[in-house]
Amino acid sequence: MSTRHFLTLLDMTPAELQSLIERAIELKQIRNSGQLYEPLKNRVLAMIFEKASTRTRVSFEAGMAQFGGHAMFLSPRDTQLGRGEPIEDSARVISSMVDVVMIRTFSHEIVETFAAYSRVPVINALTDDYHPCQLLADMQTFYELRGAIKGKTVAWVGDGNNMCNSYINAARQFDFKLNVACPEDFAPNAELVAREADRVQLYSSPEEAVAGAHLVCTDVWASMGQESEQRKREREFRGYQVNPALMDLAAADALFMHCLPAHRGEEISEDMMDDPRCVAFQQAENRLHAQKALLEFLLTGSH
Ligand code: CP
Ligand code: NVA
Repeated sequence: MSTRHFLTLLDMTPAELQSLIERAIELKQIRNSGQLYEPLKNRVLAMIFEKASTRTRVSFEAGMAQFGGHAMFLSPRDTQLGRGEPIEDSARVISSMVDVVMIRTFSHEIVETFAAYSRVPVINALTDDYHPCQLLADMQTFYELRGAIKGKTVAWVGDGNNMCNSYINAARQFDFKLNVACPEDFAPNAELVAREADRVQLYSSPEEAVAGAHLVCTDVWASMGQESEQRKREREFRGYQVNPALMDLAAADALFMHCLPAHRGEEISEDMMDDPRCVAFQQAENRLHAQKALLEFLLTGSH
């Protein structure tokens, strides 16, 4: 069988994604019960980070340790990747020594090229275009709290960024309706929106997008790599803040998610993280369990 990669949610079938989420919930129970479970003994994960991270690094590294394996942190500052060694050569070399590779970088093409030259599975841990690992955790969290998301309405408020693009893929794979409210110049990938036109609808008003939604999501206004646009974006996104008053327009049992890190006073109000509808910390913890399910699937082919 050819090597499986996880570069976007479309690399898995809907059935595989659902079974990953159910497995993540089982792995969470195994860990919470204190039981040792080490299916990846002696296996090594290489983690290439060209951008900063707290959750992604800690969850992958802790997950590999809990599974009896090892994770290796590689930054461009300390490897030849940062001195211009071609991705193709790096992929051949690194994948000849480890069992799985995780990459957080800028251009999505970098992970695609790496995967094309890798002999082991490659996981996209965030590019400028997609953040599929976060969606595994988000979908797990919704499933734990509210059951199947199929047929529900999700509202995305703010930047049409990598997270928003991944929500569009999720709308297809998990079969939900996605309302996206963003300023005109910050809409998500137009091809993706057109491809999923029967599920995804763009709005300029957050109030309209959120009306009746079962899940409301947002993310920072300036992503990593866009720091110089911070001021301009603060002006452009004014009016796109998620706060308890906006949440009151959603369904009575609506949840609020944020992949974190959050900027209080910008995309969320000061009090939004403490609102009972906010599940951002459960979402963050689920990165650990969901990615352990992903690693187990990619490396052992089970579940
Ligand atoms: N949500 C997320 O990916 O967080 P980090 O940038 O801290 O990894
Ligand atoms: N959109 C954000 C997500 C961070 C987890 C970024 O790319 O910086």
